[in-house]
Amino acid sequence: MSLIFDHIAELNSTRPWGRVLDAGTGINSLRWLRTLPADDLTAVTGADLMVRRMSDALGPSPVHERILTGNWADPDFLAGETFDTVIADYLIGAMDGFAPYFQDEMIARLRQLTAGRLYLVGLEPYVLEKPSTPAGDIVFRIGRLRDTFLLLSGQKPYREFPMSWVEAQLERAGFAIVSTKRFAIRYRARFVNAQLDMCAHRLHLVPEDLRSALSAHVEGLRTEALAMEARLGGLRHGFDYVIAAEPRTNS
Ligand SMILES: C[S@@+](CC[C@H](N)C(=O)[O-])C[C@H]1O[C@@H](n2cnc3c(N)ncnc32)[C@H](O)[C@@H]1O
Repeated sequence: MSLIFDHIAELNSTRPWGRVLDAGTGINSLRWLRTLPADDLTAVTGADLMVRRMSDALGPSPVHERILTGNWADPDFLAGETFDTVIADYLIGAMDGFAPYFQDEMIARLRQLTAGRLYLVGLEPYVLEKPSTPAGDIVFRIGRLRDTFLLLSGQKPYREFPMSWVEAQLERAGFAIVSTKRFAIRYRARFVNAQLDMCAHRLHLVPEDLRSALSAHVEGLRTEALAMEARLGGLRHGFDYVIAAEPRTNS
């Protein structure tokens, strides 16, 4: 299904899944979790639109599953509930849109929610430092242009957090790290088009006097990036990470 979900399944092979929480749900994580022998499955999103998309893509929930819309910044949401296995799949990087500045407290909430094992999946930030390779540089330029469009059209960009930050926060919150693994990323044409389409679809929302120059820039970057992707067989840059952690027994 995916290298990352395969890795988590492998890490979990010696323990039961039990009560499972998908703390930042979406089509990919829910599709995978439905294949597992969980006792029950709770999938949480901040957006009703996500619930509709998941049910269009995956069909109705099986009897052991509930999909909830809520906000982890609300202290009453799922208060007191605990889960044997918690999946936080690209949750932290998406939080700015729902609960800005809550990312460190989210790790503390994950500690309250986790009775057994947490698997946290994240994307190492890639739009901060200028990369030294041509492939890295073009991915960096695409990411920055996408964020520029989001800001100019009044929306919030994703804010990813480094693996080292997440590890430190997990330890501070009372987790012991069980395993960490990096997954090098090779961006394909689909990524290039999806990110630049996000820009093109927001053109009508940016200031009018910038539109024609920005539109030409988007299409120029698309041509350049697609040619490089074809020549190099993908754009290798950055990594995703998976961290497995368990509550520290003395915390
Ligand atoms: C990038 S998506 C996760 C990807 C997903 N696991 C998949 O398989 O496609 C982030 C998810 O976290 C949710 N989320 C982000 N911040 C949240 C918050 N403060 N409270 C509840 N859900 C939140 C979003 O609504 C979304 O469902």
